[in-house]
Amino acid sequence: MIIAIDGPAGAGKTTISKALAARLGYTYIDTGALYRGFALKAQREGVDINDDARLKKMCDEISLYFKNDDGELRLYLDGADVTKEIREPQMSMMASDISARPMVREALLHVQRELGRERKVILEGRDIGTVVFPEADCKFYLDASVEERARRRHKDFVKAGKEVAIEKLIEDIKQRDHNDSSRKHAPLMQADDAIHIDSTNFSFDEVIDQLVTIIKNKQG
Ligand code: DC
Repeated sequence: MIIAIDGPAGAGKTTISKALAARLGYTYIDTGALYRGFALKAQREGVDINDDARLKKMCDEISLYFKNDDGELRLYLDGADVTKEIREPQMSMMASDISARPMVREALLHVQRELGRERKVILEGRDIGTVVFPEADCKFYLDASVEERARRRHKDFVKAGKEVAIEKLIEDIKQRDHNDSSRKHAPLMQADDAIHIDSTNFSFDEVIDQLVTIIKNKQG
């Protein structure tokens, strides 16, 4: 059983997917982390993402894999744990930019399909239900208003002791939405057979309950 959860930045995909995986006994895979890993390598090595030759070399050489550390998914880039580094705020837009390059998408397509061969898996991203696993058993498109998504992000930043203006978060989210939905290859969009869930006015628990009910019905 493959569960695909797609949607824009800050819609709660990560929190929801993690909780869902724990509740249902599934493996959870954060595909955005892979694009972030790619962006981190490009940044560290000073690779211009529009330089086809260097990007190709990077695609051929990069090593990206997850390790499960006591239920916590950690990303390894070229053998080193980069779980923390890929969450730096500037990595979001860099990941979005590099994810528009078809070469990068192609390289990660194989990685994601390989990861999806696990028996019970939840993958969250932008194109899981449309491109990576169009045959997924259960597809969700998780959304929320831009303001609500920014408010949730803001809460996370405050919790982490970081100060950032909510107006700036709204602008960043709008820009990333635009970037991810307007790219030519595998843009962010809802699959025809995905269930649309707008979580703006729902609590975390309400969304989880909604998803669990739908999945259990599908499982029969
Ligand atoms: O989910 P995230 O914010 O960590 O993702 C970072 C970027 O990676 C996102 O802005 C677009 C890209 N991405 C993608 O193109 N396809 C995916 N399946 C997952 C992420």
